[in-house]
Formats: sequence, structure tokens, C-alpha cells
Amino acid sequence: MVILLACKFAVFYPGVMFLGEIVSIISGKGGVGKTTIALNVASSLTKMGYDSIVVEGNVTSPTASLYLGYMPARKTINNVLNGEFSMDEVILEHDSGVKLITCSLALPELAANYSKAFTMVKHQLKHKADMILIDAGAGLGEEARNAIQISDFVLVVTNPEMPAIIDALRSVRLARAMKKKVLGVVINKVNSSLPQVSRKEIEGIVEAPVLAEIREDRAVHESFSYNFPVTHFRPNSRAGNEIARLAAVLVGEEHKSVENSFVDKFNFLLHRLKIRSLP
Ligand SMILES: Nc1ncnc2c1ncn2[C@@H]1O[C@H](COP(=O)(O)OP(=O)(O)OP(=O)(O)O)[C@@H](O)[C@H]1O
Ligand SMILES: [Mg+2]
Repeated sequence: MVILLACKFAVFYPGVMFLGEIVSIISGKGGVGKTTIALNVASSLTKMGYDSIVVEGNVTSPTASLYLGYMPARKTINNVLNGEFSMDEVILEHDSGVKLITCSLALPELAANYSKAFTMVKHQLKHKADMILIDAGAGLGEEARNAIQISDFVLVVTNPEMPAIIDALRSVRLARAMKKKVLGVVINKVNSSLPQVSRKEIEGIVEAPVLAEIREDRAVHESFSYNFPVTHFRPNSRAGNEIARLAAVLVGEEHKSVENSFVDKFNFLLHRLKIRSLP
């Protein structure tokens, strides 16, 4: 027991989590890339041989299922709340290998008891996969708190702009106030041609280690337009490689970069011309 505990604390810093636990992906500011990171980390973990499940935690504005092309999903966590299906039965298995539990898009179902749903996720999914990723709602309100509450770890996403960074700091502090371990901060949509806040400055503000910088890359958007995470659809892209590296960091593995902008764009062109199919 003592040895196990010692190992647990020895590997915690900086960012490595323990298999089977729940990590929520949060941000103060909306639109910074939580869903993008959640789906792509899950896709990368699948490629590395880890089993993961993404859970839609943004119940007022669920988008993960839409990015993957479920319009709408036939089975959702609302069916579990209604007693129609078990938690296992509502896991959607996407062609990218991503497993996802989503929630209903129907407005009347917003009245559902989602805090009960979160508790069910905690009790029924923990240790059912190597990583349970909760794609949380933005902000510090009830929706985000529900996700944080059931999590063992928290990963904070920001953009390199001051309003997002300050909100990231507030998210870090909220998670710690709720006694959760903060794995670190991901800086997403980095664009060197714009006047953005540097990694060093961000690290000085957010009171947590920066685990990854993900460049702004139209391949992310283009991949979602084909209903795939970029790490699966365009593995040679910049963002694809950077998110794959983040996934490797989370499980304490090395990532071998296959970044090649020319190959990435050429393959995508062939795909668009229907000469060769991606992925
Ligand atoms: N690295 C990136 N490069 C380019 N576009 C990106 C990148 N990351 C995310 N995006 C785009 O930014 C938009 C917002 O991303 P996403 O939905 O993941 O943010 P979010 O934080 O989950 O938003 P919300 O707070 O509404 O849940 C999407 O159109 C997505 O394709
Ligand atoms: Mg989102």
C-alpha cells in the first residue's frame, strides 16, 4: 500500500495521470478547443493501444457528437436516465476508434437530472477504460462544476489571449478549491503571425505547468468537416502531431513525430479530388 502510494505521487508531476481515472477538460472561456482536445486525445490514445471514453459534459451546448457526424445520436445518456439502456449500451463507437457518450439535443430534455447522470458516469465508468475524458462546458458554473466534481484530474485549455488566460487561471483555482489535481494547461490555437501572449508569460500566470502548445491549423477544422478528429484523419498535420504528443504525455509515453506539412496537404488534396481516400 505504502509503495503504491509512493508510486502514485512520484509519477504525478508534470501531467502524467493514472490509468482508469476520470479527467475533465475545462476552460473558463468558451470556444478555446476543449472538445477538439478531448476527441483528438481519445483518438490518439486509441492509436497507442489505450482504451478511452469521451463523455459529453457540455449538456447545454453539446458538440462532440456533431463533430463526429452523429446528427443526432440514436442513443444518449438521457436513455440511461430514463432507464431504457445501460451506460455500456449508449457508448457510440466512431470509425476513428473514439468512444463517445453524448446527451440529447432536444430542448425539453435539458430539464433532465444531469447531476445524477454525472454521478452515474463516475460510478459506472471509472476504471472501465484507461481514461474517461469529460468534455466539460465552458465557464465556472454548475455545468463545469458537475464535471470537475466527478473527476480525479483536470486539464485546462486556453488560447494565447489574455481573457482566455485569466479564465484559465480561474479554472485552475476552482479545480484546486474542489480538491482536484490539475494536470496542467494546454495552449491551443497558437498562431505565431499574431500578437499573442508567449508560453513563458502564460506559465507565469496560470499557476500550473503548460503541457502542450497546439498550433492553429485549418486541418483541425477541415477534419471535423469530414467528421473525423485531425489526429486520425490527418496524422501528418501540425495540430495532429501536437495533440498526439499531448496524449502521449498524459500516459507517460514518448511521441514519435510524423509531422510533414507537405505530405499532409498533398494527401488531403488527393482526398478532395477523390483520388485517394483518407485516413
Ligand atoms: N488548433 C486548432 N486550430 C484550428 N482550429 C481549431 C483548433 N482547435 C479548435 N479549433 C476550432 O475552434 C472551434 C472551437 O473548438 P471547440 O468546439 O473544440 O471549442 P470548445 O472549447 O469545446 O467550445 P465550447 O466552449 O463551445 O464547448 C472549432 O471550430 C474547432 O474546429
Ligand atoms: Mg466544447
